[in-house]
Amino acid sequence: MAELNSPLKIGDFEIKNRLVMAPLTRARSGETRVPNQLMQEYYAQRANAGLILTEATLIAPKAVGYAETPGLWSEQQAQAWQPIIEAVHAQGSKMVVQLWHVGRISHPDLLDGDTPVAPSAIQPAGHVSLLRPKRPYVTPRALSIEEIQEIVAQYKHAAELAKVAGFDGVELHAANGYLIDQFLQSTTNQREDEYGGSLENRARLLLQVVDAFIEVWGAGRVGVHIAPRADSHDMGDANPLETFGYVMQQLSQRQIAFVFSREYQAEDSISPQLRQQFTGAWIANENLTPESAKQLLASGEADAVSFGKAYIANPDLLERLEKNLPFNELNPETIYAKGALGYTDYPALAEHTLEA
Ligand SMILES: Cc1cc2nc3c(=O)[nH]c(=O)nc-3n(C[C@H](O)[C@H](O)[C@H](O)COP(=O)(O)O)c2cc1C
Repeated sequence: MAELNSPLKIGDFEIKNRLVMAPLTRARSGETRVPNQLMQEYYAQRANAGLILTEATLIAPKAVGYAETPGLWSEQQAQAWQPIIEAVHAQGSKMVVQLWHVGRISHPDLLDGDTPVAPSAIQPAGHVSLLRPKRPYVTPRALSIEEIQEIVAQYKHAAELAKVAGFDGVELHAANGYLIDQFLQSTTNQREDEYGGSLENRARLLLQVVDAFIEVWGAGRVGVHIAPRADSHDMGDANPLETFGYVMQQLSQRQIAFVFSREYQAEDSISPQLRQQFTGAWIANENLTPESAKQLLASGEADAVSFGKAYIANPDLLERLEKNLPFNELNPETIYAKGALGYTDYPALAEHTLEA
C-alpha cells in the first residue's frame, strides 16, 4: 500500500515519511543527565527520519538504571532539549520523547545506595549493564500504593516538561523489562492488591500513566512502546496474546496516536494479531532489512517501520534505503563510548564519495 517516502498521519501530527528512528540509549549526557550540543548534532544528522523517538529519558533521579542517560525531571533539562528539537524540526522531522523508569533493572550504586523498586521483590537474572566491575542485579523492593501513585505523578510531570521542551508528543516505554513491563507481565508481578493478580490489575499502572499523558497532551500525541516477545531482562508472561491484546483494546478505546512494537518477524510473532486490535498507527521494529521494511509497508502490515542499530551507524539511513545502497557497519565497541567517537562520526554517503 504505502511507500517508505510517503507521509503518514499519526494521531494529531503528520510525519514526512514512514521511517522512524528507534529509541537508542547512547549515554552521552554526562553525569548531570542534561542534554547537550553533541546530542543535538547526533539527532540533527538523523533527521531524515519522519519521526525520531528519543533515547529512553528518565522521569526522575530514582528512575535511573544506567550512567549518563538523559532525564526530563527539571526545567534545566527541558530547556536543554529545546535546541535539539528545533534542529530536528528545522529539517521537517518530528520528535517524540520516550519516558522511562527502569524499576528493578538498576543497582544501589546507581541510586545513592537505595534498593531498586519493582512491583514485587523478584530478583532479575543477569548483571547490571555497563557497571564495572560486573555486579548482579539485586532483589528489588516492592513499591507501596502511595509510591506507585507518586511515580504516576512523576510521569505526568515529565510529560508536562516535554511540552516546555517542544516535543511533538510523548511515548511511554512499556517494553524491554523496565518498570511498566514489570507490572504488566505475570512473571514479575505477584502483587495481591489492585496493581497485581488479574490482567486488569497488571495493566493498571500502564493505563494510568497513559491517562496522565492524555490529560497533558491529548490522546493524539501519545504513543506506547511494547516488546511482546519479552526476551529482555528476564521477563515473561503466562499468556502474552491475552495480556497485550487487552492493552491494545484499552489503548484503542483511548484513541492514542501509535503503538511501537519491538518484535522481530517470526512464525510465532503476535504483533500481527495485536495490530488487528489497535486502531491507531502501527510502527514495526526489530531486525528489519530494507526488503522486509518495504514489504511491511506495501502489505499494510505496518504504517511505519523503525530501525535501531542501522541508525547508529548510518546517519543518512533514508537515502540508503531509498537507493538500495549498502549500510555502514556498526562498531559495537563504541556504542557507549565517550563523546563523538562512534556517535557523530559515522560518515554519510556524500562524505564517502568525497573521501574516495
Ligand atoms: C545501543 C542500543 C540502545 C537501545 N536503547 C533503547 C532505548 O533507549 N529504548 C528502547 O525502547 N529501546 C532501545 N533499544 C532497542 C532498539 O530501539 C530496537 O528496538 C532494537 O535495536 C531492535 O531494532 P533493530 O534490529 O533495528 O536494531 C536499544 C538498542 C540498542 C542496540
